[in-house]
Amino acid sequence: MKVLLVYGTSEGQTQTIAHFVAERLVKRKHKVLTVNASQQQFIPKLDAFDAVIVAASLHAGHYQRSVVQFVKQHAAALAERPNAFLAISLTAARADAEDRAGLERCVTRFINETGWTPASIRHVAGALRYSAYGFFKRWLMKRIAARYGGPTDTRRDHELTNWADLAQFVDAFARRRRPVEHNR
Ligand SMILES: Cc1cc2nc3c(=O)[nH]c(=O)nc-3n(C[C@H](O)[C@H](O)[C@H](O)COP(=O)(O)O)c2cc1C
Repeated sequence: MKVLLVYGTSEGQTQTIAHFVAERLVKRKHKVLTVNASQQQFIPKLDAFDAVIVAASLHAGHYQRSVVQFVKQHAAALAERPNAFLAISLTAARADAEDRAGLERCVTRFINETGWTPASIRHVAGALRYSAYGFFKRWLMKRIAARYGGPTDTRRDHELTNWADLAQFVDAFARRRRPVEHNR
């Protein structure tokens, strides 16, 4: 299977996630083209691909504009082939029902904005990359983390991504023997 993997990233964790997904697919003999949505001029026509995975991270309730743009432009082509949305956030690390409902609202806004209803949606916990933040952002993210019982040691970065869970999702997507379930 030829897979197109388009991602948006602001601090880098979604890029790490995209590369993990691509490597996993390649190991299983699939062909993968991984492209940052900010360089979408380099994406060939979607006809060339059997499946598409889109990944983006949440910042103040919104996914990257470049991803929204790409998806909006290709919503019909995405719907014609197996597709999935990897929605990266800090909230995904939490099991709280209210937080989950908040994530749902963000995804619904994304769907309304783009016109694409992903065949499957996976909420994936990202990272707190304190080293990538400027002074104000570091202070803000530390406050947010403290409020939610997250890691507050700003001297290092904290990866919250559940790689085993993501690997399972990728394998199920690649097999496509049964529908990939939403984790929401
Ligand atoms: C300025 C800022 C705003 C964020 N806003 C949200 C948010 O609204 N909801 C959430 O769950 N996570 C939020 N996050 C967490 C990011 O989604 C998380 O750090 C993710 O790993 C970022 O992925 P990236 O490194 O690919 O950009 C925010 C992070 C930053 C730095």
